[in-house]
Amino acid sequence: KETKDQLIIDAGQKYFGATMCKSCGMIYSASNPEDEIQHIQYHHRFLEGIKYTSWKRERVVAEFWDGKILLVLPRDPSYATRKVTDVQELVDYELGFQQVVPRCPEKAKTLLFVSDDKRVVGFLTAEPIKQAFRVLSEPTGSKECSRAWQCSNVPEPAVCGISRIWVFKLKRRKRIARRLVDTLRNCFMFGCFLSTNEIAFSDPTPDGKLFATKYCNT
Ligand code: ACO
Repeated sequence: KETKDQLIIDAGQKYFGATMCKSCGMIYSASNPEDEIQHIQYHHRFLEGIKYTSWKRERVVAEFWDGKILLVLPRDPSYATRKVTDVQELVDYELGFQQVVPRCPEKAKTLLFVSDDKRVVGFLTAEPIKQAFRVLSEPTGSKECSRAWQCSNVPEPAVCGISRIWVFKLKRRKRIARRLVDTLRNCFMFGCFLSTNEIAFSDPTPDGKLFATKYCNT
């Protein structure tokens, strides 16, 4: 049977096939020099981007056995807002998002999950919204457009729109995203704990949809 899948020849190289870097999480082919160069470049940029060097002032909104959550507001000192921009760039690169200018950046709230080894391993940005449209079903059409979720055309009132949620690949399924959303619900509006009906996830990825479905019990 003819196969068109083979792209690399296994000639007994020391490192053959796909490898996942244990520090940055990138999957690359160590036997392919171009891939390796790409990995080295990404590796440095990524680890530098998520590095957290203790700030003069930080707003700790939750503390855990494995890290803490910091809240960053748009008018915070530039060392804090710059870190938010740097991490958001890495997140957008991973998600394949084009640069999107937030509609009301002065009202955006960002949460950073900083691990005990001083890395930003979780990121969430949210902004006030007035309404949201419920995702109705599985994706429409072919596999290629697997993010074309079908949405209701009936708006429902909502308070908080999560525009980005991301957890470092090597730290997933440790409830970091859950803890970020729990913390957001507590600190988004002074004096009240938002219900899951009041929060909405904008344009979710397949991972984001699986998480949101589980989190919101929908
Ligand atoms: N597949 C199936 N279920 C999942 C998945 C998944 N990939 N991720 C989370 N869940 C469910 C599970 O039930 C999980 O509980 P369990 O581990 O006890 O079974 C529950 O959600 C809670 O998961 P967390 O551990 O809190 O989630 P995590 O910290 O791994 O982060 C996230 C989830 C943020 C979606 C992560 O996978 C990620 O960063 N993915 C890449 C970026 C992305 O796609 N972000 C969403 C973009 S959409 C948006 O930003 C609005």
